[in-house]
Amino acid sequence: MTKLIRFGVSMEKGLLSKFDRLLKAEGYASRSEAIRDLVRKTIVEEEWVTGETVSGSIMLVYNHHHRELLEKIMDIQHDFHEVIISTQHVHMDHDNCLEIIVVKGMAEVIKKVYNHLTALKGVKYTSLSRATTGKKI
Ligand code: NI
Repeated sequence: MTKLIRFGVSMEKGLLSKFDRLLKAEGYASRSEAIRDLVRKTIVEEEWVTGETVSGSIMLVYNHHHRELLEKIMDIQHDFHEVIISTQHVHMDHDNCLEIIVVKGMAEVIKKVYNHLTALKGVKYTSLSRATTGKKI
């Protein structure tokens, strides 16, 4: 097991009160676990900035009746097959589809896939959830 190190943190009273309110609302048992999560989140954000191997998911909502859109989405996925782990397609209603694309690879390549998909005409919504491979946290 990893050795735990205790350290003191100084903080403005008002800021600490806000932090404690948030912890309570989110169900944290201690400040330590909340601070550990904040540190992990910062490390993951850094992984995306420095262009390391990361993971995540891209979510798309689009109208599948839009001319040639499905083909274009498929072309992009094949062009970047090395970073696409899996896709899940959900038929939301008669017109709309939601697709979740799980990705793992270099941050820059994943951002490129995301940008290509976002730029397609007929795509109504996209989001990129930035995660980690978990190796560094
Ligand atoms: Ni569909």
